[in-house]
Amino acid sequence: MPLPASAATEILPPDPAGIDRAAALLRAGRLVAIPTETVYGLAGDAASDRAVAAIFAAKDRPRFNPLIVHLADPAQAARLARLTPLAEALAAAFWPGPMALVLPLRPGAPLSPLVTAGLPTVALRLPAHPVARALLAAFGGALAAPSANPSGRISPVSAAHVLAGLGGRIAAVLDGGDCAVGLESTILDATGDVPRLLREGGLPVERVEATLGIAVERAAPGPRPASPGQLAVHYAPRGAVRLDVTAPAPGEVWIGFGREAPGDAGLNLSPGGDVVEAAARLFHLLHRADALAGPAGRIAVAPIPEHGLGRAINDRLRRAAAARR
Ligand code: TXA
Ligand code: MG
Repeated sequence: MPLPASAATEILPPDPAGIDRAAALLRAGRLVAIPTETVYGLAGDAASDRAVAAIFAAKDRPRFNPLIVHLADPAQAARLARLTPLAEALAAAFWPGPMALVLPLRPGAPLSPLVTAGLPTVALRLPAHPVARALLAAFGGALAAPSANPSGRISPVSAAHVLAGLGGRIAAVLDGGDCAVGLESTILDATGDVPRLLREGGLPVERVEATLGIAVERAAPGPRPASPGQLAVHYAPRGAVRLDVTAPAPGEVWIGFGREAPGDAGLNLSPGGDVVEAAARLFHLLHRADALAGPAGRIAVAPIPEHGLGRAINDRLRRAAAARR
């Protein structure tokens, strides 16, 4: 008997039976939260208007921002988008992995227009997480998947985070453990000859530049978000967030970095001062600090160095802090 829409969210194990069940739910137009190496994604059939609309509804997204389309292999990417020479080079170097490419959409590509928000371009990504890859292979098509959190809240990096935010609102979560990278993918516009950075993320820009031997264009800073979904108010705990704090005030929940004295909560992104470890722990510690501080509480975060993944961490932290200003 089919489960009623209000049924509890199924928790699926990351084994062949769980992956088959997830693929069957997705083929039926239902939503399944899936593990990727960056964050958990709220996946739906990218060819189905109803499934994609259900993603926006489940997240309570205020606007129809374009979504990233997840694929199993580069041949599928070439069917949906025109792979520019730049895209071919980026894909060869960094797919599968924490990089999404914005590319010219092929006319007639089998994607719901809701996925692209009507744009002539589409964002594609081949995730590296073995469970995501197995699911994409079993499903056989393209999956639209924004982060699996209610709109504006902290991105989920464990199945428990997904259930805390969307439990009861989605068909299932495929439990693939904690996300290794812990930050959303780096988004590059690869429609031209030079990559343009649309979102800092899990692939450091320095690595792109070193590997391709070209400079990545940065969108000019300003009030307009470079990528349509880059709202300033995002990734937000319920309480207020203060950044670059070296001495927390009494009552603040402190998130340290490096060798500062731990606060009462004992939260430190990386005692050894490693930005890669800090990225993997960022959303875990924001979820913990949010739970400790409560809706009216205050969170203070230590300075994070602005290099490598540190830039993506600072981007997320600035958005978290902007929410309550
Ligand atoms: O790490 C990730 O990328 C995660 C995991 C689940 O894979 N997914 C994710 O997806 O963050 P999503 O759909 O939330 O990312 C959407 C971002 C937004 O900032 C949106 O504006 C941008 O991608 N985007 C999508 N299509 C675009 C397009 N055609 N042009 C410019 N930006 C686009
Ligand atoms: Mg998100």
